[in-house]
Amino acid sequence: MTTERTLRAEGVTLGYGDRTIVESLTLDVPPGRVTTIVGANACGKSTLLKAMARLLSPARGEVLLDGKAIHRLPTKQVARILGLLPQSPLAPDGIAVSDLVSRGRHPHQGALSRWTRADDEAVARALDATDTTHLADRHVDELSGGQRQRVWIAMALAQETDILLLDEPTTFLDISHQIDVLDLLTDLNRHRGTTVVMVLHDLNLAARYADHLVAMSAGRVIAAGDPGDVLTEDTVREVFGLDSRVVPDPLTGRPMVIPLGRHHTVSETTPVVR
Ligand SMILES: Nc1ncnc2c1ncn2[C@@H]1O[C@H](COP(=O)(O)OP(=O)(O)O)[C@@H](O)[C@H]1O
Ligand SMILES: [Mg+2]
Repeated sequence: MTTERTLRAEGVTLGYGDRTIVESLTLDVPPGRVTTIVGANACGKSTLLKAMARLLSPARGEVLLDGKAIHRLPTKQVARILGLLPQSPLAPDGIAVSDLVSRGRHPHQGALSRWTRADDEAVARALDATDTTHLADRHVDELSGGQRQRVWIAMALAQETDILLLDEPTTFLDISHQIDVLDLLTDLNRHRGTTVVMVLHDLNLAARYADHLVAMSAGRVIAAGDPGDVLTEDTVREVFGLDSRVVPDPLTGRPMVIPLGRHHTVSETTPVVR
């Protein structure tokens, strides 16, 4: 099952006040695939995601959801199709985990706001998938950073949208929970055909989990496509100003970036796998 939903940024210029951050950017999100976005701090990744989720209006250009300008579609209609986990979401003071995750169901409630068994089941599934069921009665503000992050992911999952945008969903998570979350999003993509777009900082995980990798620099897309084509030593230098060696990940064959630095450089004798 693959979602037929399409999401496209068409020549969008984005900014805050009169400060332009992203200029004339075009990006097609492949439907039913996993897209990861990488780029240096402040290059405009979150700004782009906000525009794609209809939270920021483009100064020029348009974001098209199923071919229609997203900014002209009703909020609730968009929220049933597309969910966003922002980079730094804010929970209402004192809210319990189960109540926060339940808010993911709001777009599905009708005019009478009736809560149904389907809503209960979606919330229970989301808590279970993110290993947060045991936290359901706790207050969100008394959780650890990693627990809280998993609760936010649960809320996004409970929304059960065909398209899911996640801004650095693995922040605050230890390595095993990072893998859990990325595996979970991959399951969602494979089993339900959910289109997943996520900003990730770990280049190796971004390459491993992506069908489609987008590298951004200074508000522009530098390269987009198959991770093996996009994540090269040249791209890493252009995007991050960093010298590196890119070798095949011994497990997956995907590109694996080994950063160089002043104290760790390549000598004649360093074995390099090509
Ligand atoms: N709400 C805002 N108001 C003004 N400037 C902002 C706002 N959000 C982000 N910016 C600026 O836009 C630029 C890009 O930010 P952002 O899209 O968050 O980058 P990234 O997610 O790639 O780190 C930064 O210079 C940041 O300071
Ligand atoms: Mg960001």
